Amino acid sequence: MAILKIARMGHPVLARKADPVPDPTAPEIRRLVADMLETMIDSDGAGLAAPQVHIPLRVVVFQAPGERSDALSQAERYDQTAPLTVLINPEIEILGTEREGGWEGCLSVPELRGFVERPVHIRYRGTDHEGHAIDRTASGFHARVVQHECDHLDGILYPQRMSDLKQLIFESEARHWLKEEGSSS
Ligand code: NI
Repeated sequence: MAILKIARMGHPVLARKADPVPDPTAPEIRRLVADMLETMIDSDGAGLAAPQVHIPLRVVVFQAPGERSDALSQAERYDQTAPLTVLINPEIEILGTEREGGWEGCLSVPELRGFVERPVHIRYRGTDHEGHAIDRTASGFHARVVQHECDHLDGILYPQRMSDLKQLIFESEARHWLKEEGSSS
């Protein structure tokens, strides 16, 4: 296992469409997933997509915080709603028309936070690195993290989803002015 270098906004790998994984159970995918998990945990991120570690494949990992954003510790926030998930070749279906804004951060856009409006309810499907099918519905932050990560696979970073760039701010300021900080993915 290894901690991988994270590509930052401006690197072409973050702007291209990632390729499907022909065999999610292949040994090189297992290795990639193990390294991505280690990198995500080391960076204290909520999620990570393969293009963020310079690999243009449709692989994401995430650990969605629960609905209880008032939970005191980071550990408590991360241990709910979506368990640690490896999602390969994901597909997202938007359920309903409800949208909601929330603060996002990204390990590829360090030190910033932006307010992004996204669909609240989704269904997502894919497989994990052991070949098991994943088919879940998600809402709230769980749905937000999945959408943020899957956007990476299509070359989209969260600032491109923002409608008002006045709400792109430094996280050091967010700490002072916002109740809820969100987390980076
Ligand atoms: Ni990100």
